[in-house]
Amino acid sequence: MNETARVQPIEWLGDRVRILDQTLLPGRIEYIDTGDYRVVADAIRRLCVRGAPAIGVAGAYGAALGALALKNGDSDTFLKEFNSILGFLASTRPTAVNLSWALSRVEAAARRPRTIPEIKEAVVAEAQAIQRHEEEATDRLSRYGADLIGDGFTVLTHCNAGSLATCGCGTALGVIKAAKAQGKKLHVFATETRPLLQGARLTAWELVQERIPVTLITDSMAGHFLSKGTIDAVVVGADRVAANGDVANKIGTYSIAVLAGENGVPFYVAAPLSTIDLAINSGKDIPIEERNHAEVTHIAGVRLAAEGVEVANPAFDVTPAKHVSAIITERGVVRPPYSPRLERLFGPELETKA
Ligand code: MRU
Repeated sequence: MNETARVQPIEWLGDRVRILDQTLLPGRIEYIDTGDYRVVADAIRRLCVRGAPAIGVAGAYGAALGALALKNGDSDTFLKEFNSILGFLASTRPTAVNLSWALSRVEAAARRPRTIPEIKEAVVAEAQAIQRHEEEATDRLSRYGADLIGDGFTVLTHCNAGSLATCGCGTALGVIKAAKAQGKKLHVFATETRPLLQGARLTAWELVQERIPVTLITDSMAGHFLSKGTIDAVVVGADRVAANGDVANKIGTYSIAVLAGENGVPFYVAAPLSTIDLAINSGKDIPIEERNHAEVTHIAGVRLAAEGVEVANPAFDVTPAKHVSAIITERGVVRPPYSPRLERLFGPELETKA
């Protein structure tokens, strides 16, 4: 375990789940306490809980709440109704594969026992196991990634891939926190991450709490600082990694990756195995979520753009594998060529970093 403090975005309370409402951060710390899977689905859709691993954990707890609320009829009817709840939860956000990964795990857990009370128990236990799994995976990958960060480095990150996004110490921020725990002196440049400002609101907040020096920049400043030699490495998280190493992450990641390559700065992606989707050959097949246009025309509820303007709002983009220097996972650091190296990660348990 990293010895760093961590914010807990999701907590299981036995028959309810508690979700930290990230839309209100850093101004207000408020929780959504619910026993209703539809409220969890709404929290995922509205980004009260966000970040690929945290979305998976929230989805699994949503499924657990759905199972607990179902009547103890015959198990065929139960499983049919349970599967429709899983479908509803899966539809909330399409890009992060962690959600469908977690829901497939709870679906498999529900098929094993015979009686309905046992099914309910198994689904809750599986959701808790998924949360523990993600915590441990991010701790491990952070220690692998820390070795890529030199003493005195300035690291640029985009969006928020910290505790808030993972339930653990974070992926990209986990790497930075683990490098700090090794005694390295670091500075982070965080992009504000328009339209929803996860960098300005969440990453800056997490790093200030961790006492890691952080400079907030607007997204369009990244190229300037990369070209000036200010940045030693870029580390970002991912929502889905295809078998060939193409990476879907927050919109704007692709531009940063290209600019990093242009300026000879390594571009690292930190992602647990739950984010790697071997069923998808290349990034072309990754579904990209299109979000509400008001997120672009408005900031904090205030309209900035003219009425009637046309808007596009893809929440993610795909960075082709050729721009990715390495992918940091809980089973080690993978360098190109990613195919078939990513596939080999899913083999028998490899020796993991202590
Ligand atoms: O729309 P969001 O806030 O869910 O997007 C989050 C990201 O793009 C993160 O970089 C990604 O999920 C990795 S989190 C460890």
